[in-house]
Amino acid sequence: MTFKNTPKIELHTHLEGCAPPSFIKGLAAEKNLDLSKIFTPEGGYAFRDFDHFLQVYEAACTTLQSPEDFRRLTLAVLEETAAHGVVYMETFVSPDFCGGGDLVAWREYLAAMQDAANQAETQFGITLKGIVTGIRHFGPEACKPAAKCAVETFGDFITGYGMAGGEMVGRPGDYAYSFDMAREAGMPLTCHAGEWGGPDMVADTIRDLRVARIGHGISAVQDPALMEQIAEQGIVLEVCPGSNVVLNAVEGWADHPIVKLRDRGVKVTVSTDDPPFFHTTMTAEYDMLHKTFGWNEDDFKTINETALAAAFCDDDTRARVAKRLETT
Ligand code: HPA
Ligand code: ZN
Repeated sequence: MTFKNTPKIELHTHLEGCAPPSFIKGLAAEKNLDLSKIFTPEGGYAFRDFDHFLQVYEAACTTLQSPEDFRRLTLAVLEETAAHGVVYMETFVSPDFCGGGDLVAWREYLAAMQDAANQAETQFGITLKGIVTGIRHFGPEACKPAAKCAVETFGDFITGYGMAGGEMVGRPGDYAYSFDMAREAGMPLTCHAGEWGGPDMVADTIRDLRVARIGHGISAVQDPALMEQIAEQGIVLEVCPGSNVVLNAVEGWADHPIVKLRDRGVKVTVSTDDPPFFHTTMTAEYDMLHKTFGWNEDDFKTINETALAAAFCDDDTRARVAKRLETT
């Protein structure tokens, strides 16, 4: 049983984290960079745990040095993602990896990504929107220029603001300034929390950063009152089961809390996070949810309806994507 052709929406991907190892290897060769340490003999990315994953991720990012590199990356990623039935995708992009937080440079990188996104929409039938992310382990001060870049380029392509990176660095409230900036500009918000932190991290993220969505959020399952609050407030979880399994945030597929969360009325969606790092695709995620929990077309339809309603895009795009979900 495969759900490869089922139309899908994914809300939680990191653009550079979608780069196939062969793509990064090609760029490294062009630029004479020795990145042999970050690859396994079989050609995958090599990392031991989450912190090491972040280091390998940043090493891979050193090959992406120009708007043209990001144009090629965006096009390659969208071709691959569309091949798994994804019709709408949101991706985290960071000014820190695109010109080091400089607004003028950021606009050039963004124009290149948008150019690739337009081409992919025509060629592969997939729509991409970007969510600007601050990187938590770079610290609260570094998140301010990221938020400034977000606010200044909020519009057709950049549709939200969020935060990724090392979840256990600082507390959510330390990052409130950048989230306040984005909120005051009218940007929808999301933040990684509860992948590594406990339910207190999820609760503080909701209270101090006032986000509409949480990246992962799976530790909420440990706190019934928090699940009730999340359900009541309609906060949507961007759940990435395959990522959680590979990084050992859960013991295995059978132990994944996505079903318990859903059964408590929490709105859940399904994404891949960084697919080549975690040896996953949206097809693999759906296939494993079917195999492990018996989820079927009806379950996936609900998941996609939830995702579409929670997408940060404008309503015209939402209506167009809704049609594609029905007719694909
Ligand atoms: N989690 C947190 N930060 C990240 C990730 C991730 O999966 N990928 C890139 N930055
Ligand atoms: Zn993530």
